Amino acid sequence: MHLLLLLSLAVSISIVSAFSPPDHYLIDCGTTASTIVDLDHRSFTGDGSSPTLSPSKSLALKTSYPDPNLSPLYHTTRVFTKPSDYKFKIREKGAHLVRIHFYKSEFKNIGTTCHDQFHVSANGYVLLHNFSAPKGNPRIKDFLISVDKDELVVRFIPVDKTSFAFVNAIEVISAPKDLIANEYVISDQNIVHAYETVYRVSVGGVKVTPFNDSLWRNWVPDDEFLKLDDGSVKSYKKLHFDGRINYRLGGASREVGPDNMYNSARFISSLNDSVPKLNMSWVFPVSKGYSYLVRLHFCDIASISIGMIYFNVYLNGNLVSENLDLSSLTNYMLASPFYADFVVGPEKFSDVIRVDIGPSKSSMPHAVDGILNGLEIWKMNNSMSSLDGEVCVNWLESKNQSGGQMSRLLSLTAAVCLLAIAFLVMRRKTEAKDYVGWSRVPVDVSEIDLKSSYPKSAVVNV
Ligand SMILES: *[C@@H]1O[C@H](CO)[C@@H](O)[C@H](O)[C@H]1NC(C)=O
Ligand SMILES: *[C@@H]1O[C@H](CO)[C@@H](O)[C@H](O)[C@H]1NC(C)=O
Ligand SMILES: *[C@@H]1O[C@H](CO)[C@@H](O)[C@H](O)[C@H]1NC(C)=O
Ligand SMILES: *[C@@H]1O[C@H](CO)[C@@H](O)[C@H](O)[C@H]1NC(C)=O
Ligand SMILES: *[C@@H]1O[C@H](CO)[C@@H](O)[C@H](O)[C@H]1NC(C)=O
Ligand SMILES: *[C@@H]1O[C@H](CO)[C@@H](O)[C@H](O)[C@H]1NC(C)=O
Repeated sequence: MHLLLLLSLAVSISIVSAFSPPDHYLIDCGTTASTIVDLDHRSFTGDGSSPTLSPSKSLALKTSYPDPNLSPLYHTTRVFTKPSDYKFKIREKGAHLVRIHFYKSEFKNIGTTCHDQFHVSANGYVLLHNFSAPKGNPRIKDFLISVDKDELVVRFIPVDKTSFAFVNAIEVISAPKDLIANEYVISDQNIVHAYETVYRVSVGGVKVTPFNDSLWRNWVPDDEFLKLDDGSVKSYKKLHFDGRINYRLGGASREVGPDNMYNSARFISSLNDSVPKLNMSWVFPVSKGYSYLVRLHFCDIASISIGMIYFNVYLNGNLVSENLDLSSLTNYMLASPFYADFVVGPEKFSDVIRVDIGPSKSSMPHAVDGILNGLEIWKMNNSMSSLDGEVCVNWLESKNQSGGQMSRLLSLTAAVCLLAIAFLVMRRKTEAKDYVGWSRVPVDVSEIDLKSSYPKSAVVNV
């Protein structure tokens, strides 16, 4: 285990305003429609009507009887039998969120000669290698990529002549400056430029959808990651808070974590004269051989007064934060968010990341002795600039698929099998559900403490 320790005291005094990204592309693939509104009320543009798709042979598929419970983004699909690019003009260089949506439930039973298996690259990074989308629910792959050119090229590369690539939607959005403070240095030379979100969890809460998140993220509940085998789980309490989350200037912003994530938590508390001896534990399976950035989100929505919350944080059994004093880190304000970043790995032997939070020496009886509101785990690119295997982009792209005769035969075969898919795509018509219109959570910055000189985060690599 190799974790590094740095403490970032950098306080960015930024102007607090609604986040408006300089680059903001929302592309629905496989359609020429100019506006497609998803279930979160975002407007996407069809790739047939936008210049982002470079000329290439591709097929646009449309479901004949779309499932009304499914976002309209998944009613159309773009299919490629040859390497193909989406090109996005970048107005402001720097970190960008790149989300790629896949929906494959209809691609079943189409024989073995044609199947989806493909690579995806972006400006020299391998994002997906030998990828084949899982059947069932839509899958969104969520990346953060540092772009140092005027263009971001997202390339889809079928693995071989019998396979095709497909995509349903692509989002490219400038990341807020404070999302990942500075690029994490793993050793002297290795700077990470690409991340894949592997977990984004709202602890003790319900699913948070893009509608309730100013960066349009999904946060899932933590139940399936809780470690339950020691009988202590009954002692962790879930909490939902109805009051206001006190975002502080220089602290975690709404773009770092939304109200709907910070307003729920699990916590340990002592109700009598003794501090309980237990940890809250979560276990997250990960692939070996990568480093991971683990971000823990804390917001004291459980204490009744300040200065009484102290606890320890362990990662894979290592004490990474001893006596974390949440009150002082949030400038002695309750319900004020704070996050701590830890870099773990690269692990050779462990294929999980385990998080334990429990009372410390300073924990007090009759007080809250541990809390966690949210957690994110990002996979960091390896030395081959890959997030998916020991391969580099040049190697994936050197495999030339376009081979005269063969390719014509291929496109015929592909067309036939894609027709088969299009046929299978037809779905039984289902009753449309009524959608209740919700309004976004109000952005109220009046209570932000301008005098705060406390860190918004601690970066700990041990
Ligand atoms: C990727 O797929 C190709 C073709 O199916 C196969 O030969 C290769 O071994 C796969 N690579 C990995 C790392 O799975
Ligand atoms: C957004 O958040 C509100 C308040 O927490 C919740 O009631 C609503 O269901 C959420 N909307 C969506 C679409 O998730
Ligand atoms: C405090 O409460 C816990 C759990 O309810 C119990 O196990 C423990 O014995 C109590 N301690 C004292 C000193 O009463
Ligand atoms: C909490 O977890 C840490 C790390 O795994 C361990 O060292 C410690 O003994 C645990 N504490 C309790 C009370 O189980
Ligand atoms: C991530 O990719 C960049 C760009 O190719 C490279 O310079 C860096 O060393 C890679 N990071 C690691 C940890 O290997
Ligand atoms: C792929 O092969 C074709 C035919 O052999 C050739 O014309 C084309 O330039 C090659 N493309 C690449 C990217 O090497």
